[in-house]
Amino acid sequence: MNDMTEVLLIDRVDVENSFPAGGVVEIWTINRTEKLNALNNEVMESIISACKAAENDDNVRVVIIRGAPPSVPDGDERPKPAAFVAGADIGEFTGKNSKQIRKVFSENVWEAIWNLSIPTIASIDGFALGGGSEIILSCDMRIATTRSNFGTPEINLGLIPGGGGTQRLTRLLGYGKAMEMVMTGDIIPANEAFRIGLVNRLCEPDDLQSMTMGLAMNLASKSPHTIKVAKRVVRASLERPMSEGINIEHDEFCALFDTEDKEIGVNAFLQRERPEWKGN
Ligand code: COA
Repeated sequence: MNDMTEVLLIDRVDVENSFPAGGVVEIWTINRTEKLNALNNEVMESIISACKAAENDDNVRVVIIRGAPPSVPDGDERPKPAAFVAGADIGEFTGKNSKQIRKVFSENVWEAIWNLSIPTIASIDGFALGGGSEIILSCDMRIATTRSNFGTPEINLGLIPGGGGTQRLTRLLGYGKAMEMVMTGDIIPANEAFRIGLVNRLCEPDDLQSMTMGLAMNLASKSPHTIKVAKRVVRASLERPMSEGINIEHDEFCALFDTEDKEIGVNAFLQRERPEWKGN
C-alpha cells in the first residue's frame, strides 16, 4: 500500500490479463476513522490531487472509493460505527461566513470525482451522509452493505447540500424522492436505498470487497477507450435535451468505427476469442 497522505490511502491492484498491458484498479480509502471519515480540507485536497494523478495515468482503468473501517476501540471507549463518510467536517463550519466557505469549497472535490473520464465505483459500508452521500453520487456506480445508511441531513444544521446533492439526487432518484431526502434530512437504510435506486448493488459486509472488485475487474476488462466514450455519452443525457443527446450518441457510435478496438472486439466475437484491446 502506498500512503499518499495519512487521510487518503491509495492502493493499486493489477488487472489480470490487462489489454493494453499495465492496467490497474486504484482503491482510494478515506482514512479519518476517529471522525467517521468526515471530509475536512486535507481529505478534500488529497482526493482532488488523486483525481488529477489518475486522470493523467493511462494505466488507471477504474477508481474505487471507500471509507476506512473503524479502528478497534481502546479499553472502555465506545466503538465507532462503520462509515463510508459521515459528511463534510462540521467542525470546520463553525464561525465561517460565506466568503470564507466559498474559498474552502472553491476547489470542488465532488466535481473532481464527477469529471473523471474513467469509471468510478463507491464501495459503501456504513454511513454515507451529507458530503459523503455527494461523493457516492459523484461516482458512476454504488455498491453498499446491508448495514449502510444514507441521507442528506444538512437541513438539520441550517444548511442545504453543497456538493451537488440537490442536482444529482434529483437526476438519479427523481424529483419527489430527492425533495423528500433534502427537506426531511431523514436517514434511510440500505434496503430502502437499493429499492429507490440510490444503490446499484447490495451485499453483506463480508462480501463488499469481492463484489466491488468483481465489478471493477468487469469494467477494467473493456476497451479503456470505449468505456470512456460510454461514460461521457450516458452523461450527456443529464446535460442535454434528448434530441441533442441522440445526436451525440449517433456521432460517438459512428466514430467508434474508426477505432482499432471496434475491429478487435467484433473479430474476437466472431472467432470466439477474448478481445485484446489496444485502447484506441
Ligand atoms: N463532521 C465532523 N465530525 C463528525 C461528523 C462530521 N460530519 N460525523 C461524525 N463526526 C464525529 C463525531 O463528532 C464524533 O467525534 P468525537 O468522538 O470526537 O466526539 C465521532 O465522529 C463519532 O461520531 P458519533 O456522533 O459519536 O457517532 P454516533 O454513532 O453516535 O452517530 C452519526 C453517528 C453518523 C449518526 C452522527 O455522527 C452524525 O449525525 N454525524 C453528522 C452527520 C451529518 O450531519 N452530516 C452532514 C454534514 S454536512
